[in-house]
Amino acid sequence: ALERTLEGVHVAISAGGTREPLDPVRFIGNRSSGKQGYALARVAAQRGARVTLVAGNTADLATPAGVDLIRVGSAVELKDAMHKVAADADVIVMAAAVADFRPTSLTGHKIKKTSADPDPITLTKNPDILVELVSARREGQLIVGFAAETGDDTTSVLDYGRAKLRRKGCDLLVVNAVGAGLAFEQENNAGWLLSADGSETPIPHGSKAQLASVVWDAVTARSTEPQ
Ligand code: C5P
Repeated sequence: ALERTLEGVHVAISAGGTREPLDPVRFIGNRSSGKQGYALARVAAQRGARVTLVAGNTADLATPAGVDLIRVGSAVELKDAMHKVAADADVIVMAAAVADFRPTSLTGHKIKKTSADPDPITLTKNPDILVELVSARREGQLIVGFAAETGDDTTSVLDYGRAKLRRKGCDLLVVNAVGAGLAFEQENNAGWLLSADGSETPIPHGSKAQLASVVWDAVTARSTEPQ
């Protein structure tokens, strides 16, 4: 039987990619499918949680049974929705691919083609929603972030993940090794689950539902720990 280990727990999950508008018909976006966030929502609901899923742009995914879905477009809309939902959430998982930048100005009308070269697009930094949620954290609230990393000659995926966990200040960070058939637009995922208390759990290559199970197991273990 499925253990309803998240009964009575309200979880807020962000999923998918943000779209940063340039004009009424154009945007800057990314390739996030939302599959990992949806898998997190589905598994949490199966374990008895009340789930609010805040979704940006995603592939054509069915809303998991029993999940409340809020649709957003841009990073700023996602930020507003997450702050609202966070006020009442016990656990927050930021699985969305939030654009780091947005076009500085949003033209009210469609940008016209002219014979001259177009003006360059200037960009403005988006807020870091995860960092904001950590600063606004309520007593007892658990916050989980995601990091898609590639290693390089000097630093491993894991080291980048450790640094990001410290910088963001969240309780748990899922580090995804990206590239080579992993993560974005893929059915499978692999990586590590890093905890602010220093524990590091390797996540074997497997389905996004399996990764979700690792995350919810860790959340449950933390909330049942003696305080
Ligand atoms: O800094 P980086 O984008 O790698 O961090 C990834 C984590 O931070 C993810 O959990 C993502 O949802 C979150 N994030 C955010 N706001 C941003 C950028 C990323 O909440 N502007």
